Amino acid sequence: MREQLEQLRNGAVQAIAAATTVEQLQEIRITLLGRKGELTALMKGLGSLSAEERPVIGQLVNSVRDEIESALGTALAAAQENLIAERLSSERIDISLPGRRPLRGTKHPISLVIEEVSAIFAGLGFSVAEGPEIEHDWYNFEALNFPPEHPARDMQDTFFVENSMLLRTHTSPVQIRTMLKQKPPVRIIAPGTVYRCDSDATHSPMFHQIEGLMVDTGVTFGDLKGILTVFTNQLFGQKTGVRLRPSYFPFTEPSAEVDIACVICGGKGCRVCKNSGWLEILGAGMVDPEVYRHVQYDAEQISGFAFGMGIERIAMLKYGISDMRLLFENDVRFLRQF
Ligand code: DAH
Repeated sequence: MREQLEQLRNGAVQAIAAATTVEQLQEIRITLLGRKGELTALMKGLGSLSAEERPVIGQLVNSVRDEIESALGTALAAAQENLIAERLSSERIDISLPGRRPLRGTKHPISLVIEEVSAIFAGLGFSVAEGPEIEHDWYNFEALNFPPEHPARDMQDTFFVENSMLLRTHTSPVQIRTMLKQKPPVRIIAPGTVYRCDSDATHSPMFHQIEGLMVDTGVTFGDLKGILTVFTNQLFGQKTGVRLRPSYFPFTEPSAEVDIACVICGGKGCRVCKNSGWLEILGAGMVDPEVYRHVQYDAEQISGFAFGMGIERIAMLKYGISDMRLLFENDVRFLRQF
């Protein structure tokens, strides 16, 4: 029996040394020490030994079992460590790989111009006002001194909705809404979307304007010219020439159209300015007393000016865009340049 135990022990030590995985070691434990294992079988034979031999062999069995247990324990710990090391190296994430850059949008040139113009007028004490795009005839025309059947209504090809509602043809109704809400002094600009039933290479049925309104005691045409000169100089550069030409709008009197020296040729004459050297960029004038009457302002006490400009046109001049449709096609290859 002693010999059998020796053999079993030597075999076990070899098997354990040869095993490399946790599974193999668990297998060895079962075949040796399990309920039907080899050592367990040997222990069952103890009963047939003599009374003197039994304690001696019993001790030997115990020490062989302890030895196997401890060898198994050490080997298992090593195998487990190997397993972890293997997983750590095979499952490692290479964090040095550069990430994928998320696509970053850019602001649309129309938004850029609105922001820049708003910032210039903010510096001159103007705040931003808003009004609805679906507007009532009264705000869009009537209160701005376009009486029903007035021929000036034909200048603005209107999209009618229903019940005297329409898509606003300009941002000027925001003047009316602001003056009805607020007593002078008023100093606002109103950027927004406007609509006209008109569509070709230079006209879009949806476009953008920025309105301006300043009303206070003693505001003069000189103030209008001064503010617009500061504005055009800041937007187009310090030496940009400005000129005012007499014009007509129902809601201003006198009215003017404002030109800047052509930003393409510097005033010498080119295709963009049709050889005139000048580019029209906005309409303006002193608010007509008839408008004040509609908003219960006292035209004897106050005076003011208004102006309105098309944003698409300014964006095209500022960024050298030759076709207005580029602004509405939303081709990202075009938009990414801004
Ligand atoms: N509302 C005019 C248009 O759309 C532009 C305009 C002209 C606005 C003169 C004004 C102004 O405030 O004073 O054609």
